[in-house]
Amino acid sequence: MVELALPKNSRITTGKTWPKPEGATNLRTVQIYRWNPDDGKNPSVDTYFVDMDTCGPMILDVLIKIKNEMDPTLAFRRSCREGICGSCAMNIDGINTLACIYGTDEVKGDIKIYPLPHMPVVRDLIPDLTHFYAQHASIMPWLETKTNTPAKEWKQSIEDREKLDGLYECVMCACCSTSCPSYWWNGDRYLGPAALLHAYRWLIDSRDEATGERLDNLEDPFKLYRCHTIMNCAKTCPKGLNPAKAIASIKKMMVDRAY
Ligand code: SF4
Ligand code: SF4
Ligand code: FES
Repeated sequence: MVELALPKNSRITTGKTWPKPEGATNLRTVQIYRWNPDDGKNPSVDTYFVDMDTCGPMILDVLIKIKNEMDPTLAFRRSCREGICGSCAMNIDGINTLACIYGTDEVKGDIKIYPLPHMPVVRDLIPDLTHFYAQHASIMPWLETKTNTPAKEWKQSIEDREKLDGLYECVMCACCSTSCPSYWWNGDRYLGPAALLHAYRWLIDSRDEATGERLDNLEDPFKLYRCHTIMNCAKTCPKGLNPAKAIASIKKMMVDRAY
C-alpha cells in the first residue's frame, strides 16, 4: 500500500466522537477528516460508529448514512454513484480512490477517510481542484483542426479509434495526480499524470491536426519532464488506467520528432 501525505492544511487534532447507535450489533468505526475554514479551528478527525446492517456496501454509502442520520454538516462531493463522474475521489485507508466503487469490505479495521492529499481543502473531504482543472484546460482537451470541416463528421478508422482505449475512460478524479510525489513537490509547474494522460489522448487522435503545437506546448523542463516513473499514478487509478505509460509515450514522441 502507498502511504500518502496528508492534505496541505494538516495540523490535525482529535475531534468529536459521536455516540454509538442504540441496539446495533454490527458496527464499524469510521474516522473522518473534518475542517471548516470559516470556524478558525485546526482540522480534526471525528469518529463515527455506523451500523453496517442498515448501510450499503460502499464507502460512499457510509458517508451518505453519516450525513443523513448523524451529522448533516459533513461535506463531500458525489454525483453518479457508479464511478463515472469522478467527483467522490478521496483518500480511503491510505489509498486515493472513488468512494462509490470502493467497498467497506476492502478496508480492514477502522475506516479512515481523508481528502485527496497535498491539495488545498475547501471543506472536510472536498479538495480545491481549481489548479488541477486549469492544467487540464492548458493541454487543449479538444479536437484542433486546420482543414475544412467535413459536411458530416470527422471520420476515424476502427484501428485509430482503438488507440484511444485506455485514455478516453479517464474521469478526471485527480486520484493519480494527488498520489504523485513529483506533483506534490512541483504541482505548480508539473502538469501531473491526469493532464498528461489527456494530452496524449489528443496527441494520438488521428483526426487532430495540432500535434506540433501540442508538443511545443509540453516542451518544458517542468510540464512533462518531472515524471520520474514512480508509477503511483498507475497503481492508484480507480479506472485501471496507466498515465505513466502515456507520459512515456509523449516523451518518445518528443525524441522521435527531434531526429
Ligand atoms: S509515473 Fe510519473 S506521473 Fe506517475 S506517479 Fe510517477 S512521477 Fe508521477
Ligand atoms: S487517470 Fe485515472 S486516476 Fe487519473 S484522473 Fe483519470 S481516472 Fe482519475
Ligand atoms: S459519485 Fe461519481 S464517481 Fe463516485
